[in-house]
Amino acid sequence: MDFKQHIAKKLPVEGLTVQDVYGMLAVPPDTAMGDLALPCFRLAKTLRKAPALIAEELAAKYPCDGIVCGVQAVNGYLNFRIDRAFLAKQTLERILSERERYGASGEGAGKTVCIDYSSVNIAKPFHIGHLSTTVLGSALYKLHKFLGYTPVGINHLGDYGTQFGKLISAYRRWGSRQMLEEGGLRALNALYVRFHEEAEKDDSLNDEARAYFKKIEDGDPQAVELFGLFKSLTLKEVGKIYELLNVQFDSWAGESFYNDKMQPVIDELRAKGLLTESEGAQVVDLSAYDMPPCIILRSDGASLYATRDIAAAVYRKNTYDFYKCLYVVAYQQNLHFRQVFKVLELMGKEWAKDLVHVAYGMVSLEEGSMSTRKGRVVYLKDVIDRCIEKALAIITEKNPALENKEEIARTVGVGAVIFGALYNNKIKDITFSYDKVLNFEGETSCYVQYTCARARSVLEKGGAERSSANAAVTPQEFEVVKKLAEFPDVLKSALEKYEPCFIARYCVDLAQLYNKFYFDCSILNAEQAVRAFRLSLTESVLITLKNGLGLLGIGVPSKM
Ligand code: ARG
Repeated sequence: MDFKQHIAKKLPVEGLTVQDVYGMLAVPPDTAMGDLALPCFRLAKTLRKAPALIAEELAAKYPCDGIVCGVQAVNGYLNFRIDRAFLAKQTLERILSERERYGASGEGAGKTVCIDYSSVNIAKPFHIGHLSTTVLGSALYKLHKFLGYTPVGINHLGDYGTQFGKLISAYRRWGSRQMLEEGGLRALNALYVRFHEEAEKDDSLNDEARAYFKKIEDGDPQAVELFGLFKSLTLKEVGKIYELLNVQFDSWAGESFYNDKMQPVIDELRAKGLLTESEGAQVVDLSAYDMPPCIILRSDGASLYATRDIAAAVYRKNTYDFYKCLYVVAYQQNLHFRQVFKVLELMGKEWAKDLVHVAYGMVSLEEGSMSTRKGRVVYLKDVIDRCIEKALAIITEKNPALENKEEIARTVGVGAVIFGALYNNKIKDITFSYDKVLNFEGETSCYVQYTCARARSVLEKGGAERSSANAAVTPQEFEVVKKLAEFPDVLKSALEKYEPCFIARYCVDLAQLYNKFYFDCSILNAEQAVRAFRLSLTESVLITLKNGLGLLGIGVPSKM
């Protein structure tokens, strides 16, 4: 039930459409005032009346019904009170019948949305800097699916570039298969670091690396095999992290996938007169848009990151006919995407407007919590492992007799990492703190998970009786009900703004309201009808929190 719609339809205001009124209705900060309010200040000018008078006149005309049970004009606001029993019944019935589909919709039916996220680099460490793109992208993926879109998760692997020539050179000189099999990505990275150290002293190494890279490009079987080894090693390791974080992809087409797809794009750019020469390189001049030129081909004829992205966008449009294509990439690449999008627009691709750079801020580790010494990489795997370890210690202390502690600690620890990265607006830089993300009383996933476990235990003790009817809904109950009813709207705006943090915050808010209700109102000892209602309310909270956390990729242990 859309109460705003209901009210807007019954509230004719001179000079405004139903949609205008709808847009002006808002939830007042203090719910003692009402459940929805229309501020009349903006109407004063057109209606040539004082806001207070407008509110009074509208209040006198508004026809109350079984849904809106009270209207009041207060200081220029028109406050509406929604019938508590009505809202409660409607909301709980809906949740208890829709269950794990509560909040889902079909608004995206028939629309494909490509989401480029995580996009790791082969043979490079998977470090804390990749956390945001991975969990943000994954949440957006799940959210799109839930709202009826067809998402395509794309891991645009960084699997092309001269660094692979360097790696082959380093591997040939100092590496072995055994060393890589034992040391994994870290061993690969060590080889890479060593190459740079040695190349400082001996420049011929760089020539060697270039030659090896050329071999990969020319399809030399040995070079290609080694490159394949680096790639499979990387994918095996990041695969484990994706599994832990509950992250999936539909496509692993990385940069090298576009090797044979760039020429047509370059030809098109040339045919459309967009390429100019600059110091031997082929570029698209973007000075008219206040941007440096977008380099398409280097003077030695090699393609660039941007060239691949332009080819990738064209490929994605042709392959998926996307409604939108999102790039979940750090704000450091703002310029890159502005350039790429502009070049596509200049090529006449009308769909360039559907490309969206979903930019996010940096994650750093709190000083002293792990090695943040300059230059040392913080591996994401280490952060996750440490969170799981800490979660285990906390759980063991709180509830030593708990069964399945390891598994629960994994769900709690992983949840803490994901939630920690998703709780703030994505563009903000964040400092990751173990104590903060694992604070059971804080604005954290473990607080929400703990609330779920509490709700579940209430339901276990309470039995199967349910009722959505309650003639005398208490204020605490009503706050929970209103929050519950908001969930579908929260999901909609989280998708519109590409802000999974709306869902994370919602879960904390709902958990807090439920806990307030839990401490203020007795559930199991209430008289039968009230008890049945409170059990329905409890179950609805559990369902909604599970759905919310699930969209973020976070599980809910049955006990904690
Ligand atoms: N691999 C790149 C990096 O780590 C991110 C790729 C993002 N996606 C893209 N289509 N450019 O910086």
